[in-house]
Amino acid sequence: MQKSKYLNIILAIAILVLVIQLTNKNERSERQTLTTAESALDTLLTKSDTAMKPFKKKSLGVRSEVYPKPAFVIGTYDKSGNPNIMTAAWAGICNSNPLSIAVSMRPATYSYGNVMESKAFTVNIPSSEMARYVDYAGRLSGKDVDKFKETGLTPVKGEFVNAPYVKEFPIVIECELTTFHDLGSHRQFIGKVIDVKVNEAVLNAEGRVDVNVLNPLIYGSGNYYETGRWIAKAGESLNDIDGKPFVPDYSRRYANETLEVIHNRKSVRHFTDQAVSKGQIEALLKAGMAAPTAANRQPWKFYVVTNAKTLNLLAEQLPYAKMLSQVQAAIVVCGDMDKAGNLKEQGYWAQDCAAASENILLAAESLGLGAVWTAAYPYEDRIKAVTQALDLPENHIPLNVIPVGYPTGEDFPKDKWKPENVVWQ
Ligand SMILES: Cc1cc2nc3c(=O)[nH]c(=O)nc-3n(C[C@H](O)[C@H](O)[C@H](O)COP(=O)(O)O)c2cc1C
Repeated sequence: MQKSKYLNIILAIAILVLVIQLTNKNERSERQTLTTAESALDTLLTKSDTAMKPFKKKSLGVRSEVYPKPAFVIGTYDKSGNPNIMTAAWAGICNSNPLSIAVSMRPATYSYGNVMESKAFTVNIPSSEMARYVDYAGRLSGKDVDKFKETGLTPVKGEFVNAPYVKEFPIVIECELTTFHDLGSHRQFIGKVIDVKVNEAVLNAEGRVDVNVLNPLIYGSGNYYETGRWIAKAGESLNDIDGKPFVPDYSRRYANETLEVIHNRKSVRHFTDQAVSKGQIEALLKAGMAAPTAANRQPWKFYVVTNAKTLNLLAEQLPYAKMLSQVQAAIVVCGDMDKAGNLKEQGYWAQDCAAASENILLAAESLGLGAVWTAAYPYEDRIKAVTQALDLPENHIPLNVIPVGYPTGEDFPKDKWKPENVVWQ
């Protein structure tokens, strides 16, 4: 009896120790998972720390650490009139008048002999999607392969010079050889620009190339990159000296561009008079339509307003949308009750259109544009005002009006992170 009592006590203690150990282990592994996740997140956060250590420099000797390097594709004809392309990163604008481009080539390249023979070349600027063609043109020689044939790219005879350009590339520049310099390993060919041809799709409303839409391929450190986001208008640094911010206040820099855009989005209420292009508006609408919707109903209709009279009318009628008179375009996100179907009564359309609206606001931020959500729904008077101004059919209910334009730089993101608004369970 006495013996079994002792045995029971020992068993109870053993169970207790086991339970305590298991609990500790679970807590430890939970803590470990959290710490790993937290440190992974930390690496996504603020890049500014590394950027803020400019004085810690290490000498690398003689190395071509010049950024960004272009990834141009040079078009030439050989003696028999066969078109060839080669990739060149040792290149760039070298004179304004006459406008000239310098391209350095090694004598071993086929293109070198072609330029010497034809006294002409084209500079073809690729967008980032063309990286594979660019890389191919830089790996094989026209001595051995027909690179146009192998890539499926189309050679087009230059309009003004004896060199082919690549039809599929968004910018092509026809150059006439004016002079060359032997620099050592490379011969630097100087080409006078005779004509520049640009795909209309990459032009903005002012007829200038929109770098974000072009998204040119960049080369550096043995890798290809695409272009980053718009930072500031050139020549505005003097404003900074006067106390007005030059560069937008990217108070929080993230290694992850999506997080950076999310955290730097702000309600922009001050716009310059610079027009936004149709391509940019379409990019915003595509982002809007990428939002999730209940039962994939996509119960929306997007009205793009560019008529100054209508924009001014809306600015007058909507109490918090006066900035509509500063912009040249606005998107009105409407719920389409015909598409809402049997979910109409539950009001899912408003949630779906809200998700689309947020996508539009984020896309605007990512393109260097400014936008702000000005509400129509659920205010009866505002819905009526927008419906009348746009002559909307009754099955289209305006959720909001989003003015879109270029920000003056006066609006800033707010830090809304409040740990007390989170309940961890
Ligand atoms: C990204 C990249 C950049 C290049 N830049 C140059 C350059 O500036 N000058 C040069 O002579 N070769 C450069 N090359 C190598 C040539 O493109 C390569 O030798 C090519 O095969 C030459 O083609 P070709 O013989 O048909 O003229 C580069 C290659 C790559 C991939």
